[in-house]
Amino acid sequence: MRLDKFLCELNIGSRSQVKEYIRKGLVTVNSLPAIKPEQKIDANKDRIALRGEALFYKRFVYYMLNKPAGVVSATRDNTCKTVLDLITLAQKKELFPVGRLDKDTEGLLLITNDGELAHAMLSPKRHVNKTYLVGIEKPLLPGQAEALEQGVDIGEDRRTLPARVEILSDSQITLTIREGKFHQVKRMLQAVDNRVLTLKRLSFGPLSLDEKLPAGAYRELTEQEVALLYEYRK
Ligand code: URA
Repeated sequence: MRLDKFLCELNIGSRSQVKEYIRKGLVTVNSLPAIKPEQKIDANKDRIALRGEALFYKRFVYYMLNKPAGVVSATRDNTCKTVLDLITLAQKKELFPVGRLDKDTEGLLLITNDGELAHAMLSPKRHVNKTYLVGIEKPLLPGQAEALEQGVDIGEDRRTLPARVEILSDSQITLTIREGKFHQVKRMLQAVDNRVLTLKRLSFGPLSLDEKLPAGAYRELTEQEVALLYEYRK
């Protein structure tokens, strides 16, 4: 297979961009700079790298991002930095975030190119658990944790589905919800006359935020985590 065709199939860039990378010496084949775009390679045997980053063909990829506050959960935006801007991989053209976190929300965001998995994880029928660490303006009053757990009126047709609350301190709780309505956590706290000051997602379905990931950093899911996701969506 031609080297430029291989690189295009990996979505590294357009044919002309790929040729430019080769011309600039950014592509190596078995650690030696590629010679020309039409150079023949064996995709199964040769080790191809772009700027030193090994490239390989995987149909689906899965990354855990620790989203920082201040970036939007989109693939592109005219004014704001997006979560995809944080991904520095060469092979990122088809990636997208699974669902949305508000601009000021931090924490676990799954990034993938697997549309079917994303669809399954976001389906309202599936009731995927999401746990948030919530900084609140004032302590919950007696009965309010129970109210949040049983369901509150956030202005939709129905009350929120049963949730789980753990009170960590006067100013911090965890809230586990099974839906993903717009601004849901903020609206739930508003419904009990409180206010969210900080919000961080700690888990999404079977995935837990890797504590070693600093805000803004990401890593590929481990094989075990991918297996958990596949099991979960069955
Ligand atoms: N609930 C919110 O209010 N915001 C988020 O980003 C996620 C859940």
